[in-house]
Amino acid sequence: MGKPDIGIGLIGSGFMGRCHANAFRSVSGLFDVPGEPRLRMLADASPALASAAADALGFERGTGDWKALINDPSIDIVSITAPNVLHAPMAHEAINAGKTVYCEKPLSTTAAIALEMTEAAEAAGVVTLVGFNFLRNPMIRLARDIIGSGEIGEVTGFRGRHAENYMASPDAPHSFRTDPQGGGALADIGSHIISMARFLLGPISQVQGDCRTIFPTRPVSQGSADRKPVVVDDMTHALVQFENGVAGSLEANWAATGRTMDLSWEITGTKGALAFGQESMNELLLYRDEKGRSGYTRIEAGPDHPPYGQFCPAPGHHLGFNDLKVIEVAQLLAAHCGGPKAGPDFREAYEVQRTVEAIQTSSQTRSWVAL
Ligand SMILES: NC(=O)c1ccc[n+]([C@@H]2O[C@H](COP(=O)([O-])OP(=O)(O)OC[C@H]3O[C@@H](n4cnc5c(N)ncnc54)[C@H](O)[C@@H]3O)[C@@H](O)[C@H]2O)c1
Repeated sequence: MGKPDIGIGLIGSGFMGRCHANAFRSVSGLFDVPGEPRLRMLADASPALASAAADALGFERGTGDWKALINDPSIDIVSITAPNVLHAPMAHEAINAGKTVYCEKPLSTTAAIALEMTEAAEAAGVVTLVGFNFLRNPMIRLARDIIGSGEIGEVTGFRGRHAENYMASPDAPHSFRTDPQGGGALADIGSHIISMARFLLGPISQVQGDCRTIFPTRPVSQGSADRKPVVVDDMTHALVQFENGVAGSLEANWAATGRTMDLSWEITGTKGALAFGQESMNELLLYRDEKGRSGYTRIEAGPDHPPYGQFCPAPGHHLGFNDLKVIEVAQLLAAHCGGPKAGPDFREAYEVQRTVEAIQTSSQTRSWVAL
């Protein structure tokens, strides 16, 4: 007997919509998934946009009505890749319809709304997954294993950042990313380094933040002479303390001239250290303190680090950003079919959002905030 069909409904066809579509199209050629994803429907902001995107991305139908997509009986998994402010209404509709919800980060615009989404999903018992795709990198799993094994000793410090340059020009225009509701560098990309810090070292218990707007106005749209004020952060620094007592710092910065994907961190321990940067995502640096041999060793990703081997039998050939999404979707399909739970779920994404909000509050009050 063949595998069951799993009906996929995708909302949004921008940067992330294309990435989700690619992952659903390719996953069953790379992983032994328990069901066959069928690209049934794509919803976008208008019927014309939706049908053009459905054709381009291989979906059977397009619609300008995301509620129709969610409630269509052929849809089992709803992928939400629309702007942040739309995540909550879309997720609630999908939860009410009993669908598996695959939502992009950040989960929502405030921690309170993220909590409502989480509680609704848990009460309904639906599978949820949030797109913190950078955690799918086998080098990140390896780092967590190394930390857990005690190989670098007791952890003594964390320094992390997510820095990119896409808003480095004062003429980079407003978008949903600068929306006063849930926008800003900290929510947009800081959420990634927070999720990674939590994945590697556990919950953060206290923060002290400094959120800054570098450019007070931006054009209302690309190339427009009409400018309006920016009320969100372009750059945030925070001191953090983890529940396990480890202290450290993190930075979120979308005006980091010269940086394109600097999601990077360093973790120090009493016997060694680890360092990682997404711009070289196929390597993990491990420092060992050995007399006459001290220094960082470069560990290269390869088939010894599952699921690298699903993509390629040889090291040095490298996984890419879109491959992380394929790994994420393979785990989503398994969870949808009753297999192991694929985190981060809504609850974990709510914890990330709570941390974002605590850093923002702390910046306003100029004091430490406990979570
Ligand atoms: N996980 C990651 O690495 C990553 C990377 C980029 C973006 N994201 C997240 O993905 C989401 C989308 O970001 P993006 O960069 O793809 O944005 P985008 O602007 O490229 O795409 C957004 C899409 O949503 C559509 N849309 C807008 N209003 C809609 C409506 N009412 N109904 C249906 N569709 C609507 C737009 O037409 C567009 O197709 C955001 O939440 C963002 O934070 C995640």
